[in-house]
Amino acid sequence: MNDTSKIIILGIESSCDDTSAAIIENGVIRSNIIAGQKVHEDYGGVVPELASRAHQQNIVPVVDQAIKKAGINRNEISAIAFTRGPGLLGSLLVGTSFAKGLSLAINVPMVEVNHLQGHVLAHFIKENDNDNNQPSFPHLCLLVSGGNSQIILVKNHLEMEVIGQTIDDAAGEAFDKCAKVMGLPYPGGPLIDKLAKEGNPNAITFNKPRITGLDYSFSGLKTSFLYHLRDNIKINENYIEENKNDLCASLQKTIIDILLNKLKKAANETGINEITVAGGVSANSGLRNTLQEEAKKRNWTLFIPEFKYTTDNAAMIAITGYYKYLNKQFATHIMVPFARMVL
Ligand code: KG4
Repeated sequence: MNDTSKIIILGIESSCDDTSAAIIENGVIRSNIIAGQKVHEDYGGVVPELASRAHQQNIVPVVDQAIKKAGINRNEISAIAFTRGPGLLGSLLVGTSFAKGLSLAINVPMVEVNHLQGHVLAHFIKENDNDNNQPSFPHLCLLVSGGNSQIILVKNHLEMEVIGQTIDDAAGEAFDKCAKVMGLPYPGGPLIDKLAKEGNPNAITFNKPRITGLDYSFSGLKTSFLYHLRDNIKINENYIEENKNDLCASLQKTIIDILLNKLKKAANETGINEITVAGGVSANSGLRNTLQEEAKKRNWTLFIPEFKYTTDNAAMIAITGYYKYLNKQFATHIMVPFARMVL
């Protein structure tokens, strides 16, 4: 019989091109296994059909490894949390179907998780039993990834309100699309981050959006970047090659300025000075440094995620599942995944 004082959640994440499984015991991480997919490298982006096939190959060994690494028996699992969306439908189907099968096999409930909520709650994963360094409520979360740029008012573990969001491209998309026009491989964000370290962030000025409120826009920056390259290549065909570091540093600075501008506005308007950052773009070293500087200046309590929790991972799905489990929010076996889901 299960020890009822121990709540053990198996998390499963398969929304895009990472197959991941994690075990969280009473909020403490016990394992977090991630299998990436190299198969997309030749295509300049994620190929949905190839992603779902790779998930099918990876899911059994990844879940098996997560259970073994946690040192538990699968009969000790209290519930299975899975990513219901948003993401690629074929990829989501693999994780969802696997969760349903295993839940029936070991007779435990399932918990559906919104991937975006998972990113926000990654800050609540405890590294060990004595780890009490988690944000309090309410706080503001800057969620920046390949598909989202949002400012979220986090009222408690399960109640969140999006108070600002992109009206077109996401910050990660701005990094990736500008990288692509410079001839850099996908995803361009990490490479721009690396090259930016050698460049001058004030060398080039790009257009910034002028929209009111707390919403973001990145499509104008992309166009401004493209026109800048077009005009300068007319004069010097080696322009990109000779100025790559400055281009990256200036682009990165512009994206960070745009992100910080609205975040500061949100903090002022709400009077909240506890800030978290989440999502793939939160791995950006320039963004992390700028946030730390602003936090010092403005007396913010800042939570920056460990690198392992910036990209897609099942630990964040398991921790969200843990709080939904405590709240008895269970999924049914007829639930289907959704490619589009909002917070
Ligand atoms: O959250 P995430 O892993 O997944 C999706 O949104 O699907 O975010 C991926 C995004 C990509 O756009 C990638 O270029 C960006 O995060 N990214 C970065 C860095 N690392 C990942 N962008 C800027 N600097 C980085 N170091």
